[in-house]
Amino acid sequence: MQRIVVHPNGPLDGRVRISGAKNSVLKLMAATVLAEGTFVLRNVPALDDVRAMADLLRSMGLTVDHSGETLTVVRPAEIDPVAPYELVERMRASIVVLGPLLARLGQARVALPGGDDFGPRPIDMHLQSLERLGATFTTAHGYIEGRADHLVGTRLFLDFPSVGATENALMAAVLAKGETVIENAAREPEIADLAAFLNRMGASILGAGSPTITIEGVDELSPVEHEVIPDRIEAATFLAALGVAGGEIVLEGARPDHMDMLMQKLGDMGVRTSSHPDGVWGMARGRLGSTDVSTLPYPGVATDYKPLLVSMLSVADGVGIVAENIFSGRFRYVDELVRMGADIRTEDHYAIVRGVEKLSGAPVRAHDIRAGAALVVAGLGAEGETVVADAHHIDRGYDRFVEKLQALGAEVERQSGEG
Ligand code: EPU
Repeated sequence: MQRIVVHPNGPLDGRVRISGAKNSVLKLMAATVLAEGTFVLRNVPALDDVRAMADLLRSMGLTVDHSGETLTVVRPAEIDPVAPYELVERMRASIVVLGPLLARLGQARVALPGGDDFGPRPIDMHLQSLERLGATFTTAHGYIEGRADHLVGTRLFLDFPSVGATENALMAAVLAKGETVIENAAREPEIADLAAFLNRMGASILGAGSPTITIEGVDELSPVEHEVIPDRIEAATFLAALGVAGGEIVLEGARPDHMDMLMQKLGDMGVRTSSHPDGVWGMARGRLGSTDVSTLPYPGVATDYKPLLVSMLSVADGVGIVAENIFSGRFRYVDELVRMGADIRTEDHYAIVRGVEKLSGAPVRAHDIRAGAALVVAGLGAEGETVVADAHHIDRGYDRFVEKLQALGAEVERQSGEG
């Protein structure tokens, strides 16, 4: 049992380096299935999810070595196109191996991921897109079996700009015959990073980062070296901590151009941010103001920012209305914040957050990565001690979270032990 113990203190002061983006590196690792040889990824964070993807690649026969921030993947000529349940259950994002396996091997057997703490997590758009490219699927015994003798480029219209469905379609289309156009594609910076990686491998992709991505299929791809983009959600987490605790910080390596909407929201709440020669600068003084939040696909306010913003709104001056438009069940952590004295009412996919002067430290539980980080942030603005249990969720997505907060002067420590 991992716990993070937080004591209120402030102001924060100093610099932290932002790690590589979890939600980019996992997909880049999946893309190594597409070409034989040795890949080198740089700026790769030490996260449980990266370890899970490494184990999945190893189970398929690839060799993965992660030392420091460099991850080397050797993809042999023969691999086993199976993603077993034990590994997919550990990390739902494993489903992104489906597209590359079908494109490169013409077959795949991937365990169905199932739901999680956000509610149901369907993969219908992933399967429909791959079917339109020529794959066929059967489902039996909790596994999807896919076959594709040859994939042929086509026009794909996504019902919703799903990140995972866009990535699976992209990684399949790069080796399909002819042109594929993905309309209503997800526009997240991690999609553009994946496209840059694939283009470096020899793919021909235009428009990634916009709603229309055009892919001209090629016959062969080759392994490459690539540096992963910085994690905008990790950067947002430190800015939320700044908002709650006050102070002045620099986030080294953060990309302000990936966080425009967030920086605007933070500005509405009284946190000043700007680009800095080394990344992003932030300063907060006094009590936060409140604002309304509505989560949307990029470039809107990311659903992953929302728990952090709710922690900030919990101690802001005024009322904030928060609408969750991406994952219906993503309000579970609210009950934990209420245990800390937050005044929040949830109704359907809305939360009404009435800021209180101070939260009150309490034992609480992390239900997922971002909710866990948001509780630690809330603890920085609470009177007394906050103990966040099940902190292993946080380790899925944050590299040295406690150490980085300590480097900014936060009074935070990790405890391991029974119960
Ligand atoms: N959806 C469908 N059908 C599909 C695919 C998605 O209905 O076939 C729905 C989902 O249920 C959800 C919405 O579409 O309501 C958006 O889901 P999306 O596919 O965009 O999300 P994802 O690819 O499963 C990634 C990130 C999440 C992040 C979301 C939204 C990774 C590994 N995960 O998930 O990150 O919240 O995009 O931006 O990239 C996290 O890092 O903690 C995390 C959960």
